[in-house]
Amino acid sequence: MIKRRLIIDTDPGVDDAFAILLAASDPQTEILALTTTAGNVGIERTTRNALGLKELLGLNCPVFKGADRPLAIPLEDAANVHGESGLGPYVFDHVPALETSELAWDAIYRLAKANPGSTLVALGPLTNIAIALMRYPDLPDVLGEVISMGGTIGYGNTVPYSEFNYYCDPLAAKIVLESKLKVTTVGLNATRQTQLSPDELASLDPQDPVLNRFVRLQREFYWDRLRNLGMEGFHLPDAAAMAVVLEPVLMHAERLPVHVVTDNGITQGWTVVDLRRRKDEKLHQVNVALSIDKTGYLRLMQQINGLKGGHA
Ligand code: RIB
Ligand code: CA
Repeated sequence: MIKRRLIIDTDPGVDDAFAILLAASDPQTEILALTTTAGNVGIERTTRNALGLKELLGLNCPVFKGADRPLAIPLEDAANVHGESGLGPYVFDHVPALETSELAWDAIYRLAKANPGSTLVALGPLTNIAIALMRYPDLPDVLGEVISMGGTIGYGNTVPYSEFNYYCDPLAAKIVLESKLKVTTVGLNATRQTQLSPDELASLDPQDPVLNRFVRLQREFYWDRLRNLGMEGFHLPDAAAMAVVLEPVLMHAERLPVHVVTDNGITQGWTVVDLRRRKDEKLHQVNVALSIDKTGYLRLMQQINGLKGGHA
């Protein structure tokens, strides 16, 4: 029985790929669409990767192409983390064509209206969602909720206090977090609690030989890249965000005031979360993830073991 219908907005992206594998492995989840945005790498590559993942996993949902750059600043990608292809050493040698020229923001609104109560899982910069809000002001009335992997409390991964998705398009993050959408932010402060050891990571490998090769290439590349970048541990932010969509009890969140800094430079995309819990709060509040249960996360991620590919 389908318990949730998801629109996944994504910039694949190694951890995006793990998040999509997790969603695809869940029998109670229907993926309505993959909508792509520029972020980890450019829009052509994120869209190619989404189409490739659709075929690899045998997803029967459409892919919709979205924003090729942030709203107001040039794209600064994360190819240094995810590789030039966006999926480490893995390049899809052929992908199905886009089935439609309908753009991501139009599809997000149309699918939200046609599927009341659906959830938008945003795994990249929030550019598509911000554009959808500007084009369709009643989006908050038709969309169930938005779970956004983004922001952090404390130190970031891109500049001292900012997480990549909100650093990449801070204006889009501000527009979405200050809108009437029901938003939960799953930031690095929470996703870092799901760090996996090499053995725990290897325990995710699918039995399906084609998926097994894809997953092993991703994790081996990502592990080495994070090590070389001096980043502590190994965690998959987008997969952690997807896990709390599938199993909300894994997350503890609180409704808190969040201000997104849109100045360019060292504070760009900083999410200033007010933990003082004041009574006379004026700032707009969103649900902010404060913790994720790592044991439950690992158990859920191991669903990927049994995933059957639809590979061509
Ligand atoms: O900061 C982590 C986020 O930025 C993840 O979504 C990752 O895919 C990158 O987009
Ligand atoms: Ca991502």
